[in-house]
Amino acid sequence: MSRDELRDLQLTRLRAILRHAYDHVEQYRKKFREAGVVPEDCRTLEDLARFPFTTKADLRDTYPFGMFAVDQSEVRRIHASSGTTGRPTVVGYTENDLSIWADVVARSLRAAGGRPGHKVHVSYGYGLFTGGLGAHYGAERLGCTVIPASGGMTARQVQIIQDFKPEIIMITPSYMLTLLDEFERQGVDPRTTSLQVGVFGAEPWTEEMRREIENRMDIHAVDIYGLSEVIGPGVAQECVETKDGLHVWEDHFYPEVVDPLTDEVMADGEEGELTFTTLTKEALPVIRYRTRDLTRLLPGTARPAFRRIQKITGRCDDMLIVRGVNVFPSQIEEIVLRVPAVAPHFQVELTRSGRMDRMTVRVEARPGADGAQREAAAALIARGIKDGVGITAEVAVVDPETLERSVGKIRRVRDLREG
Ligand code: DLL
Repeated sequence: MSRDELRDLQLTRLRAILRHAYDHVEQYRKKFREAGVVPEDCRTLEDLARFPFTTKADLRDTYPFGMFAVDQSEVRRIHASSGTTGRPTVVGYTENDLSIWADVVARSLRAAGGRPGHKVHVSYGYGLFTGGLGAHYGAERLGCTVIPASGGMTARQVQIIQDFKPEIIMITPSYMLTLLDEFERQGVDPRTTSLQVGVFGAEPWTEEMRREIENRMDIHAVDIYGLSEVIGPGVAQECVETKDGLHVWEDHFYPEVVDPLTDEVMADGEEGELTFTTLTKEALPVIRYRTRDLTRLLPGTARPAFRRIQKITGRCDDMLIVRGVNVFPSQIEEIVLRVPAVAPHFQVELTRSGRMDRMTVRVEARPGADGAQREAAAALIARGIKDGVGITAEVAVVDPETLERSVGKIRRVRDLREG
């Protein structure tokens, strides 16, 4: 499909979805009215900017099913994202929605290098989280053999990979690190497994993390993006041949990047908050959903009709303000992973003494690193943070195997400051 053909299709679908949302969801009718728009006001793709945003608060306020646009008897599945505070957000799918979801995940897997007949080990959690089941049905749709491992029981995961010999693994990058340590504990060289590709997502990860995983495992590490409110995994996918950001499956999910402060739509290439309008979802259409994820839109490469998003390195609400300086956990990750004497396991803790913020970074030593190497590593990381981020942090290099391990999405930051 050419870009022009795609844009025609997007406009047709956009107009239909605005109408569907307006006709069936009271919250949308209310918000459209307040903004003084009706679905017919959308005559071009650019007109979407006149429509109101949807946020997590809209879903919370209408908990659990108030934003659903179809009768409950049409809803085939429900997922929920736990969220860090308050009520979870609940999402629903019709049969058609589930089929489209399987299609976009199948497409993602293929772009990642997956082919019919491959065995796909799924370590994303199964359950209300969209990762496990989303990956599962997508891999089946592509014609793969699925190994539904889910998260946890790490020793057994290593055994299964050894015995079943999957070509592909789908897992959060932080849980991959946990598995890698387990391979080494069992005396298995992770470079010798059958795995060829890892499809990593559900949390931010850096180019440094890609290098760490690719080198230790001798696989291709590619990025998969998605969020429950839009569908789950499979909204955008990095292509294995270019590894240059993630192509957005724009025939189903229309992206805009907006200025998080002024709400203005930004030009392609400029960094801001990613928002999505679902173009085909029946049970839970979302209009201009604010993801809180920060990125920029770029032209397509390996899949030329689809624009890419640059690898996401943070969320608006991940940003820490330490003594007035903005810090993203991904910046710390970049610095830590460049230091060979430490392992890729770290935690950031924020405390306040008097009116002074303090940032402590705890990093695990690599097994075998001696006292002098640890001290040098700590100094190197502290210097990197000072130069790269602009703040003074205390860095403690701790013993191997002492920091908490991830079995899903990792939480790296503990903010113990009050108020
Ligand atoms: O994490 C869906 C998913 C599952 C995506 C498995 C990929 C693989 P939620 O739990 O709703 O859904 O969390 C969505 O996770 O807004 C981002 O902040 C973050 N996120 C997801 N994928 C990536 C990624 C799933 N590739 C939230 N890079 C999103 C960075 C990601 N952040």
